[in-house]
Amino acid sequence: MDVVVLVSGRGSNLRAICSAIDAGTCHANIVGVVSDRKKAAALEFAEGRGIPTRVVSLRKGDDRNAWNDSLTAEVASLEPDLVVLAGFMRVLGAPLLERFPGRIINVHPALLPSFPGHSGPQDALDGGVRVSGCTVHIVDTGVDTGPILAQAAVPVLADDTVDTLHSRIQVQEHRLLPRVIHQIAIGAITLDPLTMSTPVADPTLSLSVPDI
Ligand code: GRF
Repeated sequence: MDVVVLVSGRGSNLRAICSAIDAGTCHANIVGVVSDRKKAAALEFAEGRGIPTRVVSLRKGDDRNAWNDSLTAEVASLEPDLVVLAGFMRVLGAPLLERFPGRIINVHPALLPSFPGHSGPQDALDGGVRVSGCTVHIVDTGVDTGPILAQAAVPVLADDTVDTLHSRIQVQEHRLLPRVIHQIAIGAITLDPLTMSTPVADPTLSLSVPDI
């Protein structure tokens, strides 16, 4: 299964996917990494591995429709079977969603439907929850609203800061995201746009709170 990964930043999830591919536990092939930020560390990592990279920047005042069209053209030119948002910090427009219906997934650092948006770990702390985690879901037109494929939980500790909580969540993201990609690759998860409201997910994928 050919995958394009969309990134904006550090790229620890991209590294985790690559490690799982190298270990033979994720049967996917990354055919390209696309970023909205030229300076994303994830790009440097991808280039180091010989993965084709593309940058489609969006600056203040830029035409958002034109950006959506360019992003769609760049991703489509790589001909992926699956598009993975791994720390891509932009909301996708209709062109990409329509070009890959039900074939775009995202990893989010909270247990959706709680705490969608840009500050999941901070919002979980502010909400006083005792358990948080990460979610892998299909991307739809909303912000972190698409059908949930898998989740992993982590405890929220009394002395947590946003950084300590996010780091604990990321350990689980790095396990869960490659597993979901693998399950899609082998057909254990079906991404059928016609059944987007009821995706067939492997219940064993979701992880309970690990011992820490
Ligand atoms: C992750 O926590 C992901 O859930 C969120 O952005 C972060 C990206 O981290 N969408 P990285 O760039 O993969 O290290």
